[in-house]
Amino acid sequence: MPFPRLELQAVAKAYAGRPVLRGLSFAVGVGECYALLGPNGAGKSTSVRCIQGLTPFDSGEIRLDGRPLTQWPAGGHERIGVVPQSDQLDPDFTVEENLWTYGRYFRLPAALIRSRSRELLAFMSLEEFAQRPIQALSGEMRRRLSVARALIHQPQLLLLDEPTTGLDPQARHLLWQRLRTLQREGVTLLLTTHYLDEAERLADRVGILQQGSILAEDAPVAMIQKHIPGEVLELRRHDGALPDAENWHQGRVAAAERSGDTLFLFDPQLDAVRAHFAVDPQYQLLQRPATLEDVFLRLTGRELREEEG
Ligand SMILES: Nc1ncnc2c1ncn2[C@@H]1O[C@H](COP(=O)(O)OP(=O)(O)O)[C@@H](O)[C@H]1O
Ligand SMILES: [Mg+2]
Repeated sequence: MPFPRLELQAVAKAYAGRPVLRGLSFAVGVGECYALLGPNGAGKSTSVRCIQGLTPFDSGEIRLDGRPLTQWPAGGHERIGVVPQSDQLDPDFTVEENLWTYGRYFRLPAALIRSRSRELLAFMSLEEFAQRPIQALSGEMRRRLSVARALIHQPQLLLLDEPTTGLDPQARHLLWQRLRTLQREGVTLLLTTHYLDEAERLADRVGILQQGSILAEDAPVAMIQKHIPGEVLELRRHDGALPDAENWHQGRVAAAERSGDTLFLFDPQLDAVRAHFAVDPQYQLLQRPATLEDVFLRLTGRELREEEG
């Protein structure tokens, strides 16, 4: 990893005595894209808000460019841009005015705010909407404006909390493309997501957040290779019955996982197993390369769902 832009070291945070972050440690290198993965309630937004300085944490340390955030003027605000989970745009203002007020917050000179606004609206494909009130924008356009706004002061580190939740596929692809451009320009990215395909596509490294700390961390491909032996065969039955109720697969594949009505089989060589089930017309078979979602399922032993406190 290059020199760390951001480091969290043993960060702990409890709400009313209930621990949410329990010794959370990870680092994001300069120019890297790191994805923090976890189900709803895992503590992703809490982590982002701690880095932002919005939520005080109980113990541990957060460092920006090697220095604790507490030693930075205004907690490092001038170097950090944030796209929060729900947009915090001012609904009474136009698109342009929102960028303007945010630029003023960072005490940027007026001419610079104007030129940055023009560039950023073009970058996020929002030029035609500069004079529109926020209320007239779709949720997806607001998200794009939130990204533009977070970039007004040219932060070196951009935090994105579930940037594509609720977006349609076109909008997700547009945002992914913009994030890749930013990364090429040298911006360090930390994003949280519960979309594993998003993490797989964007992130240089991913960290799986479970019960307030990092359960596993690696580059997506390396993580898949480490945890999934070969390919995946998904088995479901048209009649809804439990696939392979007799556990015929046992001893014939490297690993297996049941999740609801689906049996996942993992092995470098699945042809014989596939042929065995393919003769039964009740079976619906899907053979595919392993994904981060499979890793997630294997490591956490369950589907993505709300974490209970
Ligand atoms: N301000 C708060 N007061 C009390 N509990 C909170 C607060 N914010 C978050 N929580 C709780 O902390 C846990 C983690 O929340 P959050 O960080 O929002 O998770 P995520 O973003 O991964 O969905 C959840 O159980 C949530 O209910
Ligand atoms: Mg959240």
